[in-house]
Amino acid sequence: MRIVYLNPCGSLGGAETSLRELLASVRTAEPDWDLWLVLGEDGPLAEAARRRGVQVVLAPFPEALARVGDAAGRWYKWPFRLTAGCWAALRYKRRLGEILDSIHPDLVHSNGLKMHLLGAWTHPRGTPVVWHIHDYLSRRRLGRALLRLAHRRCSVAVSNSHSVAEDLRSLLPGLKTYVIYNAIDLQRFSPGGPKLDLDDLAGLRPAAPGAIRVGLVATFAKWKGHLLFLQALSRLSGDVPFRGYIIGGPIYRTVGSQWTRTELEAEVDRLQLRGKVGFTGFVEDTPGAMRALDVVVHASSEPEPFGMVIVEGMACGVPVIASQAGGAAELFTHGENALGYAPGDAAGLARQIGRLLRDGGLRKRLAEAGRRNAERLCEGSRLAAELLRVYREQRQPSAALPIEEASFTPEGR
Ligand code: GLC
Repeated sequence: MRIVYLNPCGSLGGAETSLRELLASVRTAEPDWDLWLVLGEDGPLAEAARRRGVQVVLAPFPEALARVGDAAGRWYKWPFRLTAGCWAALRYKRRLGEILDSIHPDLVHSNGLKMHLLGAWTHPRGTPVVWHIHDYLSRRRLGRALLRLAHRRCSVAVSNSHSVAEDLRSLLPGLKTYVIYNAIDLQRFSPGGPKLDLDDLAGLRPAAPGAIRVGLVATFAKWKGHLLFLQALSRLSGDVPFRGYIIGGPIYRTVGSQWTRTELEAEVDRLQLRGKVGFTGFVEDTPGAMRALDVVVHASSEPEPFGMVIVEGMACGVPVIASQAGGAAELFTHGENALGYAPGDAAGLARQIGRLLRDGGLRKRLAEAGRRNAERLCEGSRLAAELLRVYREQRQPSAALPIEEASFTPEGR
């Protein structure tokens, strides 16, 4: 079996981390398969894939294609950017078509909206196309219109949660969709192992002895809740010393989609948190950063489609507080293996952080139960078994196992 994976971005955001673990799981399950990755941008994902025995083709997106997207605002107000983006997409489509023809895959698996569209338009005739959906696409005005046009060229979709599958079903009712939860590397993301010096990375003097370290681990996408996190920290009474960390950076190129560090620093000043909050920048060793924390916060202000950091934090044995909506809400039980609060509720988040600052016993219980929960949800062998079944069904529909026997959930049939 020869599979080509398509991904627009080379940096390690959530969808790329998910792809990296997917490649590792498929490679382990099928060591002889020929796996290729076509990337629209160079970055750490390329090296990570090569290390897993995947052949990487770098085919950089033209700037105009990389920058166009719904996050740029009301797209009809940007006729020039849109026209330039369409033109660049047409040129890129030709290039991608040539690459796919030369690799001659048995199956194409795309990640990310731009690659779903480009893959559907260029895949060699008769080659099944699997769309791996990581986000609520019905909310993207331009994207959803284009997906409606392209979806008949896609054979099947895989979504990262039931909540995302439901959204996709409302947008494209005819498209068969399987829910397959992401995997994480449970050895790397584990309670034992080195810890990063977050104060040093953030350029701060060491935190006061006994200070509880509370961190938001996220890209700088605006909906990841950086402002909410800072507001919650500013509401904490000073009875237990703490230090907050913002771990991550602006890694995407779509115009208007992210905060800049200067904007976030201005918010730190406005809330009088200077010295109490540090910025580490992008960190490749996420488990090392998480292990250095006493509490991992997830603060997305909109329903989170899945939320890699939630399961990664749990796997590292660090208590997690998460915004309880969307796919994220499928990943934990409030009070049992993590704490939840309503998205956008700064007072609610502050309350849950306050509970954990004061209660070491609760931190310990959540840490242990969280690790068990991550092991149950995010095993790589489970992901490979579910995904390989989808691939085989596309290649030989008659040989597919009856869908009822699958351990995962078929939707939209
Ligand atoms: C996207 C989603 C995020 C999810 C990741 C991996 O980045 O926004 O919620 O964790 O994909 O599926």
